[in-house]
Amino acid sequence: LDHRDHVDLIRDGVTPGGTWADLGSGTGAFTLALAELVGPRGSIYSVDRDTFALRSQADALQARFPAVTVRQVTADFTQPLDLPTLDGLIMANSLHFVREKADLVERLSAHLREGGRFVLVEYDADRGNRWVPFPISYRSWTAVATTAGLCGTRRIGSVPSRFLGSIYAAVSDRPAASEIPAA
Ligand SMILES: C[S@@+](CC[C@H](N)C(=O)[O-])C[C@H]1O[C@@H](n2cnc3c(N)ncnc32)[C@H](O)[C@@H]1O
Repeated sequence: LDHRDHVDLIRDGVTPGGTWADLGSGTGAFTLALAELVGPRGSIYSVDRDTFALRSQADALQARFPAVTVRQVTADFTQPLDLPTLDGLIMANSLHFVREKADLVERLSAHLREGGRFVLVEYDADRGNRWVPFPISYRSWTAVATTAGLCGTRRIGSVPSRFLGSIYAAVSDRPAASEIPAA
Protein backbone atom coordinates (compact mmCIF):
# COMPACT_ATOMS: atom_id res chain seq x y z
CA LEU A 1 0.00 0.00 0.00
CA ASP A 2 1.24 3.50 -0.76
CA HIS A 3 0.28 6.93 0.54
CA ARG A 4 -2.69 7.24 -1.86
CA ASP A 5 -4.07 3.88 -0.68
CA HIS A 6 -3.77 4.98 2.97
CA VAL A 7 -5.57 8.25 2.24
CA ASP A 8 -8.33 6.53 0.24
CA LEU A 9 -8.86 3.92 2.95
CA ILE A 10 -9.69 6.46 5.69
CA ARG A 11 -10.91 9.44 3.62
CA ASP A 12 -14.60 8.98 4.50
CA GLY A 13 -13.82 8.94 8.23
CA VAL A 14 -11.88 12.19 8.44
CA THR A 15 -13.07 15.76 7.98
CA PRO A 16 -10.67 18.71 7.58
CA GLY A 17 -9.52 20.58 10.67
CA GLY A 18 -9.80 19.49 14.27
CA THR A 19 -7.56 17.67 16.70
CA TRP A 20 -6.79 14.02 16.05
CA ALA A 21 -4.65 11.29 17.57
CA ASP A 22 -2.94 8.38 15.82
CA LEU A 23 -2.41 5.64 18.43
CA GLY A 24 0.37 3.19 17.59
CA SER A 25 1.44 5.41 14.70
CA GLY A 26 4.74 3.62 14.03
CA THR A 27 6.66 5.05 11.09
CA GLY A 28 3.64 7.17 10.25
CA ALA A 29 1.84 5.63 7.27
CA PHE A 30 -1.54 6.78 8.58
CA THR A 31 -0.17 9.88 10.32
CA LEU A 32 0.80 11.10 6.85
CA ALA A 33 -2.63 10.16 5.48
CA LEU A 34 -4.29 11.95 8.40
CA ALA A 35 -2.08 15.00 7.84
CA GLU A 36 -3.27 15.22 4.24
CA LEU A 37 -6.93 14.85 5.25
CA VAL A 38 -7.05 17.18 8.28
CA GLY A 39 -4.97 19.76 6.43
CA PRO A 40 -3.27 22.86 7.80
CA ARG A 41 -6.16 23.72 10.14
CA GLY A 42 -5.81 20.35 11.86
CA SER A 43 -3.43 19.04 14.47
CA ILE A 44 -2.35 15.50 15.27
CA TYR A 45 -1.03 13.79 18.40
CA SER A 46 1.09 10.90 17.16
CA VAL A 47 1.46 8.27 19.89
CA ASP A 48 3.80 5.29 19.94
CA ARG A 49 6.04 3.63 22.50
CA ASP A 50 8.76 3.26 19.84
CA THR A 51 10.89 6.41 19.88
CA PHE A 52 12.83 5.39 16.76
CA ALA A 53 9.66 4.98 14.72
CA LEU A 54 8.42 8.38 15.91
CA ARG A 55 11.69 10.00 14.97
CA SER A 56 11.59 8.65 11.42
CA GLN A 57 7.99 9.77 10.87
CA ALA A 58 8.82 13.27 12.11
CA ASP A 59 11.17 13.79 9.16
CA ALA A 60 8.59 12.55 6.64
CA LEU A 61 5.87 14.76 8.12
CA GLN A 62 8.09 17.81 8.13
CA ALA A 63 9.06 17.22 4.50
CA ARG A 64 5.56 16.53 3.15
CA PHE A 65 3.08 18.31 5.44
CA PRO A 66 5.00 21.09 7.20
CA ALA A 67 1.82 23.14 7.73
CA VAL A 68 0.12 20.48 9.86
CA THR A 69 0.93 20.60 13.57
CA VAL A 70 2.02 17.13 14.71
CA ARG A 71 2.99 16.49 18.33
CA GLN A 72 4.80 13.28 19.04
CA VAL A 73 4.01 11.46 22.26
CA THR A 74 6.14 8.55 23.42
CA ALA A 75 3.68 6.48 25.42
CA ASP A 76 1.96 3.15 25.87
CA PHE A 77 -1.63 3.55 24.69
CA THR A 78 -2.85 0.88 27.12
CA GLN A 79 -1.92 3.28 29.96
CA PRO A 80 -3.55 6.64 30.75
CA LEU A 81 -2.67 9.18 28.05
CA ASP A 82 -2.23 12.92 28.44
CA LEU A 83 -4.28 14.13 25.46
CA PRO A 84 -6.67 17.02 24.88
CA THR A 85 -10.28 16.40 23.87
CA LEU A 86 -10.15 14.93 20.38
CA ASP A 87 -12.32 15.31 17.29
CA GLY A 88 -11.11 11.91 16.17
CA LEU A 89 -8.62 9.16 16.73
CA ILE A 90 -7.24 6.41 14.56
CA MET A 91 -5.79 3.03 15.46
CA ALA A 92 -4.22 1.44 12.40
CA ASN A 93 -2.76 -2.04 12.78
CA SER A 94 -2.14 -1.41 16.45
CA LEU A 95 -5.26 -2.67 18.27
CA HIS A 96 -4.31 -6.19 17.17
CA PHE A 97 -1.59 -6.20 19.83
CA VAL A 98 -4.25 -6.11 22.54
CA ARG A 99 -6.17 -9.28 23.38
CA GLU A 100 -9.11 -7.85 25.35
CA LYS A 101 -10.18 -4.82 23.39
CA ALA A 102 -13.51 -3.49 24.68
CA ASP A 103 -12.28 -1.93 27.95
CA LEU A 104 -9.36 -0.24 26.24
CA VAL A 105 -11.54 1.06 23.42
CA GLU A 106 -13.97 2.47 25.97
CA ARG A 107 -11.17 4.22 27.86
CA LEU A 108 -9.64 5.62 24.66
CA SER A 109 -13.04 6.78 23.41
CA ALA A 110 -13.32 8.92 26.54
CA HIS A 111 -10.76 11.24 24.88
CA LEU A 112 -13.25 11.95 22.08
CA ARG A 113 -15.71 14.82 22.20
CA GLU A 114 -19.38 13.92 21.76
CA GLY A 115 -19.78 13.08 18.09
CA GLY A 116 -16.03 12.47 17.79
CA ARG A 117 -14.83 9.67 15.53
CA PHE A 118 -12.98 6.43 16.21
CA VAL A 119 -11.34 5.13 13.03
CA LEU A 120 -10.04 1.56 13.05
CA VAL A 121 -7.82 -0.02 10.39
CA GLU A 122 -7.40 -3.76 10.87
CA TYR A 123 -7.01 -7.12 9.18
CA ASP A 124 -10.43 -8.60 8.54
CA ALA A 125 -9.74 -11.78 10.51
CA ASP A 126 -10.32 -13.15 14.00
CA ARG A 127 -7.32 -15.48 14.04
CA GLY A 128 -3.85 -14.09 13.88
CA ASN A 129 -0.24 -15.16 13.56
CA ARG A 130 2.96 -14.31 15.38
CA TRP A 131 3.16 -10.84 13.80
CA VAL A 132 -0.52 -9.99 14.12
CA PRO A 133 -1.49 -11.71 17.35
CA PHE A 134 -5.10 -10.60 17.91
CA PRO A 135 -6.71 -9.23 14.75
CA ILE A 136 -10.40 -8.37 14.80
CA SER A 137 -12.71 -8.85 11.84
CA TYR A 138 -15.08 -6.08 10.84
CA ARG A 139 -17.98 -8.20 12.03
CA SER A 140 -16.43 -8.69 15.49
CA TRP A 141 -15.45 -5.01 15.64
CA THR A 142 -19.08 -3.91 15.24
CA ALA A 143 -19.89 -5.81 18.46
CA VAL A 144 -16.80 -4.64 20.39
CA ALA A 145 -17.36 -1.02 19.37
CA THR A 146 -20.93 -1.19 20.63
CA THR A 147 -19.84 -2.80 23.92
CA ALA A 148 -17.31 0.03 24.29
CA GLY A 149 -20.11 2.60 23.96
CA LEU A 150 -19.51 3.69 20.36
CA CYS A 151 -22.30 3.91 17.81
CA GLY A 152 -22.91 4.07 14.08
CA THR A 153 -20.05 1.73 13.14
CA ARG A 154 -19.66 1.55 9.38
CA ARG A 155 -17.06 0.22 6.98
CA ILE A 156 -15.46 3.02 4.95
CA GLY A 157 -12.84 1.11 2.97
CA SER A 158 -11.26 -2.23 2.25
CA VAL A 159 -8.18 -3.44 0.36
CA PRO A 160 -6.90 -6.95 -0.37
CA SER A 161 -3.89 -7.99 1.66
CA ARG A 162 -1.24 -10.65 1.13
CA PHE A 163 -1.67 -11.47 4.80
CA LEU A 164 -4.92 -12.49 6.47
CA GLY A 165 -7.11 -11.75 3.42
CA SER A 166 -7.92 -8.07 3.56
CA ILE A 167 -7.58 -4.85 5.51
CA TYR A 168 -10.62 -2.72 6.28
CA ALA A 169 -11.20 0.73 7.69
CA ALA A 170 -14.23 1.43 9.85
CA VAL A 171 -15.49 4.51 11.60
CA SER A 172 -17.63 4.74 14.75
CA ASP A 173 -18.95 7.77 16.63
CA ARG A 174 -18.87 8.70 20.28
CA PRO A 175 -22.55 9.32 20.96
CA ALA A 176 -23.82 12.58 22.38
CA ALA A 177 -24.75 12.19 26.07
CA SER A 178 -28.43 12.57 25.13
CA GLU A 179 -28.14 9.54 22.80
CA ILE A 180 -26.85 7.12 25.44
CA PRO A 181 -29.69 4.85 26.48
CA ALA A 182 -30.51 4.93 30.20
CA ALA A 183 -29.47 1.73 32.00
C1 LIG B 1 2.23 -2.70 12.87
S1 LIG B 1 2.73 -1.13 13.46
C2 LIG B 1 1.51 -0.07 12.69
C3 LIG B 1 2.02 1.31 12.45
C4 LIG B 1 1.08 2.23 11.68
N1 LIG B 1 -0.11 2.57 12.47
C5 LIG B 1 0.66 1.61 10.36
O1 LIG B 1 -0.50 1.19 10.23
O2 LIG B 1 1.52 1.52 9.48
C6 LIG B 1 2.17 -1.17 15.16
C7 LIG B 1 2.70 0.01 15.97
O3 LIG B 1 1.97 0.03 17.20
C8 LIG B 1 2.88 0.30 18.25
N2 LIG B 1 2.32 -0.22 19.49
C9 LIG B 1 1.88 -1.48 19.74
N3 LIG B 1 1.42 -1.58 20.99
C10 LIG B 1 1.53 -0.33 21.52
C11 LIG B 1 1.23 0.22 22.80
N4 LIG B 1 0.69 -0.54 23.77
N5 LIG B 1 1.46 1.53 23.02
C12 LIG B 1 2.01 2.31 22.05
N6 LIG B 1 2.35 1.84 20.82
C13 LIG B 1 2.11 0.53 20.57
C14 LIG B 1 4.18 -0.36 17.84
O4 LIG B 1 5.29 0.24 18.49
C15 LIG B 1 4.16 -0.12 16.32
O5 LIG B 1 4.84 1.08 15.99
